[in-house]
Amino acid sequence: MSDWIDIAALDDVPQRGARVVKTLAGCVAVFRTATDEVYALNNSCPHKGGPLAEGIVHGDKVTCPLHNWVFSLETGQAQGADDGRVETYPATVENGRILLDKAALNRRSAA
Ligand code: FES
Repeated sequence: MSDWIDIAALDDVPQRGARVVKTLAGCVAVFRTATDEVYALNNSCPHKGGPLAEGIVHGDKVTCPLHNWVFSLETGQAQGADDGRVETYPATVENGRILLDKAALNRRSAA
């Protein structure tokens, strides 16, 4: 059974917006899509460290604010850049609260 950390109310994150939370895994950007899906990704773009939380959310993707790489919120994979991938973490919504998987955040990224 997973251990979940309550990080915010769903309504604290605007639709098609994001909020940054500090975790042991570093700064994690928690995104909310227009259809209220929630995704958690490392906030730092693998290209040159752009703040993904400040990017533009469209569908289930986010565009980095610095040089417009486009990432899948679900897989973290960059479109058209084979080596561009950002770490993702399991996130869910329960009773209007956003929860992140504690074990995944404690696991340090291998990169
Ligand atoms: S830093 Fe994100 S695309 Fe360049």
